[in-house]
Amino acid sequence: MTTVRIENSEGELIKEVPIDVGRVLLSQLESHDIEIPNACRAGMCAACMCNIVQWSEHVIKNLRGEPAFPLGEDEVMTCIAGVKETDETIVLRTMY
Ligand code: FES
Repeated sequence: MTTVRIENSEGELIKEVPIDVGRVLLSQLESHDIEIPNACRAGMCAACMCNIVQWSEHVIKNLRGEPAFPLGEDEVMTCIAGVKETDETIVLRTMY
């Protein structure tokens, strides 16, 4: 179990939640009542994009497929991404 802190685009805390390793981020965030815009849920549209503020090395960007286009170092599509097991708190920032 890894902890993910979700912030809004202003850097304000939305929620800090436990995330299971091996399952995609988006559906797990939704199960914690965190709303992330989404459309294709397949790494094609970037609607679910978040910025990785801290601990990008613990984020698996292609857990369930490859992004349709190259991502920046700090960008992640939450619909296809997962996390590694870590004691660090991964910080993601939404685009809204
Ligand atoms: S919902 Fe389209 S890329 Fe994630």
